[in-house]
This record gives sequence, structure tokens and C-alpha cells, in this order.
Amino acid sequence: SGKLRPLATDWGRLVLQKARISELKDHLDGEVTLQGWVRHHRKSGKIQFIVLRDGSGFCQCVLVKSEVDEQIWERARQLTTESSLRLIGTVQQNPRNQNYELLVKDLEIVHISEAFPITPKEHGIEFLMDRRHLWFRSKRQWAILRIRHTLVKAIRDFFDERGFTLIDSPILTPTAAEGTSTLFGVDYFDEQAYLSQSGQLYLEPAVAAFGKVYCFGPTFRAEKSKTRRHLTEFWMVEPEIAFAHLEDVMQLGESFLKHLVQRVLENNQFELKELERDTTKLEAALQPFVRMTYNEAVEKLKKLGSDIQWGEDFGGDDETMLTNEFDQPIIVHRFPKEFKAFYMEPDPEDDRLVLGMDILAPEGYGEVVGGGERASSIDFLNEQIAKHELDPEPYQWYLDVRRYGSFPHSGFGLGLERAVAWICKLPHVRETIPYPRMLYRLKP
Ligand code: 4AD
Repeated sequence: SGKLRPLATDWGRLVLQKARISELKDHLDGEVTLQGWVRHHRKSGKIQFIVLRDGSGFCQCVLVKSEVDEQIWERARQLTTESSLRLIGTVQQNPRNQNYELLVKDLEIVHISEAFPITPKEHGIEFLMDRRHLWFRSKRQWAILRIRHTLVKAIRDFFDERGFTLIDSPILTPTAAEGTSTLFGVDYFDEQAYLSQSGQLYLEPAVAAFGKVYCFGPTFRAEKSKTRRHLTEFWMVEPEIAFAHLEDVMQLGESFLKHLVQRVLENNQFELKELERDTTKLEAALQPFVRMTYNEAVEKLKKLGSDIQWGEDFGGDDETMLTNEFDQPIIVHRFPKEFKAFYMEPDPEDDRLVLGMDILAPEGYGEVVGGGERASSIDFLNEQIAKHELDPEPYQWYLDVRRYGSFPHSGFGLGLERAVAWICKLPHVRETIPYPRMLYRLKP
């Protein structure tokens, strides 16, 4: 019974019957064609084990010498790591670990890979980053980027289901949104342009047309600091809501983050396990968030040993210290105006403060969300533009929001990569995006 299949398989015809590894449970005891790459290949006497990956998952494929044609057996013996191939076999469930496996009947090599540079041994980070285009074939990087994908979909669903209209903001802009020190300049014919740091200035006029809007796209900051939290190109989702106040966006931010965590817990158990993520820690984000004012946070930090002074922004270490105190995320609100953006609404109860808020992720991750209430008075904004030494002329269109039916409005921005780093519990944001851009890193 052993020699199951004639050698001349019509592979072209079989393409239509091919399955993906993630669907194998639907084909138990059935025959399928898989196409993919060799992750590992091990020979053990009269059995060969091929761990195949096809982008949807990983699957052990077993070749038993006595059950396949000798030519197939010999063909399989040539396989190297990352060789591409097609396999036909029967789907079985491994009684020990319940995983779905393929008992191979036929095998076609598509390409024998050259020696793959990334091996199971430890590699330095620069070596891996130079080979990012190959590195993300590894199981861990694959798991991270799959969770990123879940988050992107969850972000869109969250706002789409709540009546927000997507307003794409431009990437080439004439002005700064978040301070002039982190602008990337671009020659724009005879003018100076900059890569967008945030879509917010473009959402504020749009919210007067659509009520609730969001943008979601790449943003750019010429960050000269090399930290585990900073990229020069990162994705930000920014909702903006008409007639909303600080309290409204604090609540929205909290339910938004809960929704994101919930989605990943529902969809990515396999990936979280691969990343050895302690999901009980992640579930803490489903509890009510901690809230504190900037003033309270500074007091707390001083007690914890930070040398922060009132009026200073938190450093990365301060955020880590603060978030290590609680299992849930922390919303810090009402900051000194000195270090916040020019567009923030002053606090009616303390004119040293503005109605901003940041959400800090637990386990040392720090700021993932920044936002607040926007100033609605044109006089106040003109003063602020002067104070921040910005040229008022290019902001006139933005000030129109305050000329024609001004209204309170609020919003925030979530950095996707910081959210991925926290949810996956990664040591650095560089692993959260397919092709990271950082200080000294523009390749591949
Ligand atoms: O706090 P930020 O600078 O806020 C804004 O840009 C507002 N205009 C958003 C708004 O209210 N519509 O940035 C928002 C978030 C941060 O909390 C962080 O998650 C992320 O963007 N972020 C970065 N992520 C990675 N690398 C960087 N260099 C980042 N800078 C900000």
C-alpha cells in the first residue's frame, strides 16, 4: 500500500486544491497540497521531519521512508533551510501535542535555498536589522507582525463602528504640528515642506464638517535620540471629536485601548504564546485605568526617588517608574503649558496648566497615547503661536476653525508601534514595524 501516488503529479492542477496551514483542522484525514518554505529539516533514520511555514502558520510534515517512493525520499534529503517546496499529504492530528501534521505522500522542490544567513544561533541586533527582509521569516518576528495586523484592523473597526469618518491627512506639509525640533525638511519645488509629524491640524477643520473623524497613517519625527521608544517613521491613529472635552477623550482613549487588548487576546493566542507573553498582565488593561493629574504624578515620582521638578516633562525613566507602580495603564492629565504643544486649551482652574492627557502603558512601556482638548479661542492661539515663535502666516487656514463657528473639540493620537511593543512585551520598538526607520537606520 506504501507507494501512494504516481510520480507525475500534475502540480498545476493541484494549485486549486491547495490549503493553508492555518486551515488544516478543516481537512483532518483529508488530502491537501501545501506550499511554503522549510523552517527546519531533520532526518532521523527512516523518517524525515520538515517544519514547513507558509505564512499562515507552521506545520510539521513527516516523510516515512517505507511509505514514499524512493525518488521522493531522496529529493527531500536535499532540502536546506528556507528552500521552497510543494507537498501533498494527509492531514493528521499528533496525539501528543494535538498539532495538525502532514503525512507526506509527494513532494516537489521549487528552489533549493542558499545557506540562509539567519540561523538558530544568537545574532547581533545590527546583523538582524541589516537582514530585516529575511529576519521577519522567523517565528517570533512573524508573530509580532501578525499582532500588528490585528491591531490595525481593530483600530479601524473601533472608529468605523462608532460613526467616525476617515479623513486622510497629507504627508507633505508646510508647517510644524508638534514642535520645530523634530521636522524632516523636503524640497518642494521652490518652497520648504516638511514630512507630517501628526495629522491633527488637518483633522480639526474636518471635524467641523464630519463631527467625528480620524486619520491613520505614517508620521515622521527627526528624533535624534536613540531610545527603545522612538522611531523616525511611525504609524499614528488620531481621532478628533466636535464638542468633546478632555473628560470625553480620556474615556474614549480608555475604551479604545481595552478594545485593542481584547482583540489581540481573542485573535492571537498562538502568537502571544510564541512570544511568551504573560497574558494575565495584559488582561489588567481590561480593568479601570488609574487616573492622576500631572501634579499628583510629580509628587508620586519624587517619593519614588525621581529628581523631576514641577514644570518638567517626564523622562523615559520617570514613565517607567510610574507605570511599574500599577498593573493597569495610567491616564495623566493637566500638564504645565511650557512643554506642551501650542494648540492645547488652558485649564480654566489653573492657568499654568493645559487640558492635555497622556496614557501610559504598564510594565514600563510609558506613553502610548497623547492628546487632549484643543484651544477654541483665536486670540489665545495667536498668543501661543507668537510664544512658540512660529510664523503665523501658514497657520491662518488652521485658525479658520476658530473664525467660522468655533466649538470645543478634543482628540488624541496613539502610536501603533508603541502599542505593539507593549502588547507583545518587546524590548524595543524596532521589532514592531516591518521596515524600521531610526537614527542611523534607513536600510533595507
Ligand atoms: O504625544 P504626541 O506627540 O501627540 C500628537 O502628535 C498629537 N498631535 C496627537 C493628537 O492629539 N491628535 O504623539 C502621539 C503618540 C505618542 O503617544 C506615541 O505613542 C507616538 O505618538 N509617538 C511615537 N512613536 C514612535 N516613535 C516616535 N518618535 C513617536 N513620537 C510619538
